[in-house]
Amino acid sequence: MSDKATLIYEGRTIELPVVRGTEGNPAIDISRLRAKTGLITYDPSLANTGLCRSEITFVDGEEGILRYRGIPIEQFTKRPDFVEVIWLLIFGHLPNKEELAEFSTLLTENELLHEGLRHQFQYIPVDAPPMAILSAALTSLAFFHQEFLAVEDIESVIQAAARLISKVRTIAAFACRRSLGLPFMFPDPKFRYCANLLHMMFSIPYKQYVVTPEIEDAINLLFILHADHEQNCSTSTVRTVGSAQANLFASCAAGVCALWGPLHGGANVEVIEMLNRIQAGGISPEQCIRDAKNKDKPFRLYGFGHRVYRHYDPRAKILKDACDRVFAQLHRKDPLLDIARKLEELALTDPYFIERKLFPNVDFYSGILLRAIGIPTNMFTVCFAIGRLPGWIAQWKEQHADPTAKILRPRQVYTGPAKVDYVPMSERA
Ligand code: CMC
Repeated sequence: MSDKATLIYEGRTIELPVVRGTEGNPAIDISRLRAKTGLITYDPSLANTGLCRSEITFVDGEEGILRYRGIPIEQFTKRPDFVEVIWLLIFGHLPNKEELAEFSTLLTENELLHEGLRHQFQYIPVDAPPMAILSAALTSLAFFHQEFLAVEDIESVIQAAARLISKVRTIAAFACRRSLGLPFMFPDPKFRYCANLLHMMFSIPYKQYVVTPEIEDAINLLFILHADHEQNCSTSTVRTVGSAQANLFASCAAGVCALWGPLHGGANVEVIEMLNRIQAGGISPEQCIRDAKNKDKPFRLYGFGHRVYRHYDPRAKILKDACDRVFAQLHRKDPLLDIARKLEELALTDPYFIERKLFPNVDFYSGILLRAIGIPTNMFTVCFAIGRLPGWIAQWKEQHADPTAKILRPRQVYTGPAKVDYVPMSERA
C-alpha cells in the first residue's frame, strides 16, 4: 500500500501524502497542494472531502455499518441507556459505575433553567417553530453561564456538557408546552434522563404522566440512534463554528439551525406529512413514488437516500423493528406504519431507487416511533437535536483538543466578473 499519490500537472510530477485511518477510505492530503502547484481542489458540497481526523464514529456506507467508538450500533439496542452513550461519545470510553452515577447526578443538578431564560418563553409566539426556540435558547445559555465560554480543562468540559445535555430537555419540553398553551412542568429529579423529558412534556399539574418501561426504552433507543453520525451537515457546522474558537453553546446552537433543514433532521417531519397526505387520500403511494422520480417536481421521497449510505441505513432497520415491537407492546396500530412499509416496498423494487442505491434513512421510521411515544410532530426535529447533542459536543471537544486544528476556511473557484471600475450614480443607466 502506497503512502503517496502522484499527480501530474503541466508536465510536473507532484507527490502527495496519503493519510490512512483505522478503517474506511484512505485520503490524499492536499493541504500543501496549492503551495506546491497553485492548484486548489474543487469539491462542491464536500462530498469527497475528509474534514478532519476523528476517533468518534465510524460509518461504512457501502456495508451499512455504524459504530460509536468502535461499538456496533446494534449492540446498544438490547439495554438502551442514552446517558452511557453520551459519556462514551464525549469521553471516549464506556463509563464505569462511579462515572455514570456522578454524571447522572450532574444532569439532575443542572436540569432547571435560569429564571431569566424561563421567562423568555412567555414572549415567544405560541406558534413559534420549536427548532427556532431551541437554537435561541441554546445561544442564551452563553449569557446565563458565562463561566463556560472558555472550557480549557476536562472538568470544565464535563460541567459545560452536563449543563447543555440536561437543559436541552427542559428547553425542549418548555417549547412543546408553549406551543400547546399548557403550563410548564418543572423537571423531577426522581426520573431518569428520558423519563424526565416525557414527564415535562406530558404531565399536568394535577396528573402525573406515567412513563412505561416500553416507552422509556423507545425514546432512549431513539436518542442513541441519533447520537452521532460523523461529519454530517449539522456536525460539520458545529465544527466550522467551533473552529473560530466560538464557545460550545454557540457552536451547538448553529448545529440546531443546520439540523432544522428538511434535507437533514427536518426530514422526519416531511416524512410524516407525506404519510399523512397519503392516508388522507391526497395522493397514492404509487403517485408519491412517481413524483419523487420526476425531475420537474421539487418533491423527494423524504426519509430515503443518504450522502454516505449506499445500503440500508442500519439505524432505519433498527427503528423499523422497534416500531413493530413497540406497537405490539402497546397493543396499538398506526396506519402510517403500513403506508410507510408500502412506500418502502414500492421504492425498493423500482429501478430508479435501485440504480441510485436509495434506501430508507434514519428519518423514514423515526417519526412513526415518535408518534407512538406521543410526541407532537412539531417536536420531531427537536428530539433529533436532543439525540445529536452529545455527538456535537464530542466533535467540538475533539476539535478543540487538537493542537493542529485551524480555523475552517475553504477556498472557491471565482466565476464573477473580472476587474471592472465603479460607476458613479449619475453615469449609471
Ligand atoms: N427521492 C428521490 N430522488 C432522490 C432522493 C429521494 N429521497 N435522494 C436522492 N435522490 C436522487 C437524486 O435526485 C439524484 O438523482 P440523479 O442522479 O438522477 O440526479 C441521486 O438520487 C443522488 O442524489 P443526491 O441528491 O446527489 O444525493 P445527496 O448525497 O446530495 O443527497 C440527501 C442526500 C439525503 C439530501 C438526499 O438523498 C435527499 O434529499 N433525501 C431526502 C431527504 C432526507 O430524507 N434527508 C435525511 C437524510 S438522513 C438523516 C439526516 O441527515 O438527517
